[in-house]
Amino acid sequence: MADKGDIFVSYDAMDALWRNSMIRMFGENVPVDFTGARYEGIYPGYGEEIAAYVEAQSNKRVYALKQIGFSSEDRVIDFGCGWGNMLNEVENWGGRAIGLSLSPAQVAYCQEMGLDARLMDWNDYRPDRQFDGAVSIGAFEHFCSIDAFRAGRQMEVYHKFFELVHDCLKPQRGFYLQTMIFGGKGVPDLDVDIDPRAPMNSPRRIIAQWKAYFPGSYLPHNEEQIVEAASDFFDLTRSEDGREDYVETARVWLEAINAPGGLEKWLEWATFAFKGLGRDELLTRLQSVREDAFSRGFAYDIIGHRRLTFVRKD
Ligand SMILES: C[S@@+](CC[C@H](N)C(=O)[O-])C[C@H]1O[C@@H](n2cnc3c(N)ncnc32)[C@H](O)[C@@H]1O
Repeated sequence: MADKGDIFVSYDAMDALWRNSMIRMFGENVPVDFTGARYEGIYPGYGEEIAAYVEAQSNKRVYALKQIGFSSEDRVIDFGCGWGNMLNEVENWGGRAIGLSLSPAQVAYCQEMGLDARLMDWNDYRPDRQFDGAVSIGAFEHFCSIDAFRAGRQMEVYHKFFELVHDCLKPQRGFYLQTMIFGGKGVPDLDVDIDPRAPMNSPRRIIAQWKAYFPGSYLPHNEEQIVEAASDFFDLTRSEDGREDYVETARVWLEAINAPGGLEKWLEWATFAFKGLGRDELLTRLQSVREDAFSRGFAYDIIGHRRLTFVRKD
């Protein structure tokens, strides 16, 4: 699993840059999502990207609630709650939610907003009562580390996670999982297929750039693997491909990150660039921003994305 140090590099180091870039572009009250939105097949025209992005992020959250059969007063658990976007959504619809995150900055932000976020690894979480629904959006991709993969433990990690989700839920209730996977270009060999000096836009270069963002994280190979890991506890009831929506999402993110923001933004960039990184990782990270690696990773099907709805079996 990506540990607290890895999560620090992925999220805490860019906490202010990310959060404030979103707020500067979309307004003070925008929920801070850091996962693929849901465009529902309609992509925005020129000049309409910002409004469409906010709506598409809202679509994602509402879709997740629909998938778990949410009704008001339900209690929901969010594994990997980030800056509390889903916790907020659940509360807006009259429910109650708790979220887990490994990022102290995210948990502090959630708590400031009055949300019930806990600084906790799901591996350490034990439910004291069962929930009406569970979600995990953009966190599952962190659950297996490269080391665990190399040790042949990937399925064991996922199986353990689904067992916990099962134990957290009331019988027959729903779990919505949104996650990146490796894309149609296949699963890379980590010993040979990663090189930030490989040709522009090649899988080897883009995967190296991703790894600089998400050290310690190894992606699920495909949907079949996830469904198999869940199969002792859950039936899959719906599956969607979110890859193209992620291309659009990441395009808007890049605009927000690159938009002017004065001295405050320069300081945020400096923090992002230098916190917790070695020189090589730093250069690869900056290269990835310059080359739009996030959006291109999805566009060239190097990285894929699934939206999976599960129902507890028993
Ligand atoms: C990309 S963010 C997604 C945040 C949010 N769900 C969203 O949609 O914006 C990934 C989240 O997963 C959390 N996470 C990763 N590994 C975790 C673990 N083992 N236990 C709890 N949270 C974890 C991170 O702390 C972070 O909050």
